[in-house]
Amino acid sequence: MTAAAPLESTELVDQAPALDRFRRDVLAALSRRPQRELPTQYLYDARGSELFDRICELPEYYPTRTELGIMERDAAAMAEAIGPGALVIEYGSGSSVKTRRLLERLREPAGCVLVDISREHLLRSAEELAAAFPHVEVLPVCADFTQPFEIPTPRAAVRRRAVYFPGSTIGNFLPDQATRLLGQMSEQAGPGGGLLIGIDLRKDPAVLEAAYNDAQGVTAEFDLNLLRRINRELGADFDLDAFEHRAIYDQELGRIEMHLVSRQAQVVTLAGRRFPLAEGETIRTEYSHKYSIDGFQRLAAAVGFRGRQVWTDPEPLFAVCYLDRA
Ligand code: AVI
Repeated sequence: MTAAAPLESTELVDQAPALDRFRRDVLAALSRRPQRELPTQYLYDARGSELFDRICELPEYYPTRTELGIMERDAAAMAEAIGPGALVIEYGSGSSVKTRRLLERLREPAGCVLVDISREHLLRSAEELAAAFPHVEVLPVCADFTQPFEIPTPRAAVRRRAVYFPGSTIGNFLPDQATRLLGQMSEQAGPGGGLLIGIDLRKDPAVLEAAYNDAQGVTAEFDLNLLRRINRELGADFDLDAFEHRAIYDQELGRIEMHLVSRQAQVVTLAGRRFPLAEGETIRTEYSHKYSIDGFQRLAAAVGFRGRQVWTDPEPLFAVCYLDRA
C-alpha cells in the first residue's frame, strides 16, 4: 500500500477578538468595586505566552511536568477510551507537547483543531504539529474559546469528536463560567463524543503558593506583562514599578488568586478615564481553582458528561479525566 500524501493544512481561521472589545473588557474590569480585576485571558499575548512556557519549566510549577508524565504513561489507554476516527478539538493549544503524546496513540484521527487566542503561538504550534504528524490534518483557529466559535470541517470523515482541554486551564474559570464552558464543550462533542481534561487537584497550600510565587520571579513578570500589554495596545499609563505580584491560596474556596498590588497611592489613566488606586489596593488578574476528582465530575455531570476514566500521578497532584456524552 502506498502512503497517503502529507496534508498541507495549517491555514488559519481567524476569529480573534478586536481591540475595542479588549478596551471595553479592561475598562469594565478596572471599574469593578470593591475588587478591581483584569480579564485573565488577556495575559496571553506573544510575550505572555512565552512567559507562560517558562513558568511550565519552573521547579515549583509541578502541574505541567506531572500532567506530561501522566500522558506519557497513559496516553494509550486514553486513546483507547476515545476510539478511532476522532476529530480532536484542543482548547488552548499551548505548546502542544501533550497533544503529541495523544496523537501518537490515537487510531486514525480525523484531524486536530487547535484553538488559541495567541495568534503567533498558535501558528507555531500548528506548524510544528503538522510537521510531526504529516498525515493528520491540523486546523488552527485563532479565537477566544470562552465565546462560541466555529469548528472547521476536516477532509477526513469524523466518527466522533473529542474535546481535549489539557493544562488544568478549566481552573482559571469561576465555577459558573466553568460550567458554561463545559456546556459549550459538551455541545461540540455531541452525542457519542467525549472530553479529555486535565485537572489540578487540591493539596498542601504551601505547595500551591510556591507554584504561583516562584523564586525566579517569572510568574511576577507574567502577571505584570498584562499591564505592559494594556499600555502598549490601549495607551494606558501603568507604571510597572509601582506594582508587585502576589498569589494567595484561599483554602475554603480551593483557589489561588493572583493579584497586582499597588505599592503606593497612584492614578492610572486609560481611554480618558482615571482610576485612582490606594497604597496596598490590588487588581485581581487570575483565579486558579483546584478540584477534587468528585467535585470536578459533579460540575461536568451538570452539562451531560459522564465520568469514564481517571488517570493520576502517584501522589496524586494532578488528574486527567475522560468523560463522555450519552
Ligand atoms: C493556564 N493555567 C492553567 C495556569 C494556572 O496554573 O492556573 C496559569 C498560571 N498562572 C500562573 N502560573 C500559571
